Amino acid sequence: MQIGNVLEDLFTQNQFMAAMIVNNEGIILSMSDTYMRLLNLPKEKIIGRPVKEVTPNTRVFTVLTTGKAMVGYNWKVNDRNMIASTIPIFKEGKVVGAFAYSVFPDIWDAKNLVENLLSELNMYRDEVDSLYTAKHNFEDIVGDEKRFKKIKAFAQQIANHPYTTVLITGESGTGKELIAHAIHNNSCRAKFHFLRINCAAIPENLLEAELFGYEEGAFTGAKKGGKPGKFELANGGTIFLDEIGEMSLSMQSKLLVVLQEQVIERLGGNHPVRVNVRVIAATNRNLELMIEEKKFREDLFYRLNVVHLEMPSLRKRKEDIPILTRHLIEKLNLRLCTMVAGISAEALDLLGQYPWPGNIRELENALERAIILADMENTAILNTRHFAFLNNRYDFQLASPSQSLKSATQEFEKEVIIKTLNDTDFNIIKTAEYLEIDLSSLYRKIRKYNIKVKE
Ligand SMILES: Nc1ncnc2c1ncn2[C@@H]1O[C@H](COP(=O)(O)OP(=O)(O)OP(=O)(O)O)[C@@H](O)[C@H]1O
Ligand SMILES: [Mg+2]
Repeated sequence: MQIGNVLEDLFTQNQFMAAMIVNNEGIILSMSDTYMRLLNLPKEKIIGRPVKEVTPNTRVFTVLTTGKAMVGYNWKVNDRNMIASTIPIFKEGKVVGAFAYSVFPDIWDAKNLVENLLSELNMYRDEVDSLYTAKHNFEDIVGDEKRFKKIKAFAQQIANHPYTTVLITGESGTGKELIAHAIHNNSCRAKFHFLRINCAAIPENLLEAELFGYEEGAFTGAKKGGKPGKFELANGGTIFLDEIGEMSLSMQSKLLVVLQEQVIERLGGNHPVRVNVRVIAATNRNLELMIEEKKFREDLFYRLNVVHLEMPSLRKRKEDIPILTRHLIEKLNLRLCTMVAGISAEALDLLGQYPWPGNIRELENALERAIILADMENTAILNTRHFAFLNNRYDFQLASPSQSLKSATQEFEKEVIIKTLNDTDFNIIKTAEYLEIDLSSLYRKIRKYNIKVKE
């Protein structure tokens, strides 16, 4: 490969560059194919011709006489706009010619590039906005059960008190996040950000920087210019501290100070910033028990617990299963692009018998699975067949057909206890609740059947 040839090819064939070389008298010695195409002239009317004949407005002569480059001027060829530059070529200290080129053959290419970048930027902006906005409203929170309706009405009232801190407790999947969104959206804070922080997902050493931000150089790896924390970003709006029960004791102390003073200080910084943020905290842990075990600060608990919403488990509001099911089928139809019309009475009955340890999220997942099954067989109404997987929990086979009734019953009992323990992640209290027996008899049976209980 000869460098000279490569350069020659680059110069003449580079489709992104209109370029030409003239000698010190302004005679065109060479021109790139792109430029020739733009001029729409045959080669013999270009090469060896005075540049003035080809492009009367040329700046080449200025460069040839001054010996100074002209960079980045507007250049028009046959109504097409370009950004061009012309630089002198020197030999032994004398100007022997000039090299003229445009980086973008057409300024509109640059414009298109900028427009594409802008639309991409706007897409990311929207995405960030959607991350920072609360999606759900009170209309999305379905339920007619008496106590549930009271909690919902209470939450609607709290929305009107934008400075009140709220603690939402309840088992997994009971709608804690949903209600936090709705409170934010119905308050005067709605036009500001709603920011969720999952205290369990962020490693303890990063949580402080995440919540309060940091200044440049606060620690090794700190970004240039520093970074605002979620409290600063949520200013005016709401911060949702999810899984607050997982927060370390030292972070709890720092959070308490912020709640008391309404002031944050970035890590490595020394100017406190006043913030106006409503805090909504949620957990599925029993914080009072954690206080007894010295795992949660009592003073922080009282600070958060100004208003307490306790989301009931689905087991305690089984009468809501039909209306929730209808609502979720509609929601899932939209998401899955399916057209399931409803559910049979028998299937609804089956859903009513199931204990739903994962609450509404589990119901939603079960319906999603059933809808997909029904859709695959083109059935419009969900029926018991589509929920067969729920039955597996208590489905078991007799070890031997000639068993006595007593030993078969005991075996069944043991099986049910083990399955429920597994489902509740070995939570003894929940297991007793699902099985509707008291704790002492559950412990007795665990000992009797020699069931291994995880620590
Ligand atoms: N009352 C309700 N009406 C309609 N949908 C609900 C209701 N409660 C919960 N859901 C739905 O159930 C799912 C779980 O709700 P959400 O995420 O709010 O639960 P969570 O209590 O925060 O659970 P976790 O503790 O596991 O985080 C969501 O898809 C939500 O939309
Ligand atoms: Mg949640």
